[in-house]
Amino acid sequence: MPDDVVPPSLMLSLPSLEATEALAARAAALARPGDALLLEGPLGAGKSAFARAFLRAAAGDPALEVPSPSFTLVQAYELPGGTAHHFDLYRLSGPDELVELGWDEARDGIVIVEWPQRLEHLTPPDALCLRLEPGEGDLRQATLTGWGDRLARLRP
Ligand SMILES: Nc1ncnc2c1ncn2[C@@H]1O[C@H](COP(=O)(O)OP(=O)(O)OP(=O)(O)O)[C@@H](O)[C@H]1O
Ligand SMILES: [Mg+2]
Repeated sequence: MPDDVVPPSLMLSLPSLEATEALAARAAALARPGDALLLEGPLGAGKSAFARAFLRAAAGDPALEVPSPSFTLVQAYELPGGTAHHFDLYRLSGPDELVELGWDEARDGIVIVEWPQRLEHLTPPDALCLRLEPGEGDLRQATLTGWGDRLARLRP
């Protein structure tokens, strides 16, 4: 894509945790094996909240345990549609450690990644990128890019 072409993006206001969870459920309904979801935003933006709601929707289990992978760096899930891996790369030492964590195998299924800046050259080019910006109170401003024709279907 030439430098002066801005990729299509979708901006959504998420006034509550429930709104973020509903967006995550819409993404889960559209996701398929091989997809990558890159979750950006500062500490406490709601990346893990989005990932938890995504995995619960994909599992069809609203009570599914989704611990934060901040210390383990990755958590694996067997879902009806295949495997999913939830990464939190905040403490990643570098791309070599990511390969040791099983990144290549994980890419066969769905990967959800917090702190995706750490992926460096392993960043999937066709990923859905979600950026969450905290606003007043529970408000989050979401900017979504990627996913081609599926992007518009993430609207409420
Ligand atoms: N609109 C919203 N969307 C998402 N989370 C929200 C929203 N409003 C309030 N919250 C709260 O904000 C917090 C977000 O925490 P979460 O652990 O998901 O952040 P995070 O981006 O994963 O942070 P970290 O970088 O530390 O992993 C939760 O306590 C959640 O309930
Ligand atoms: Mg988190």
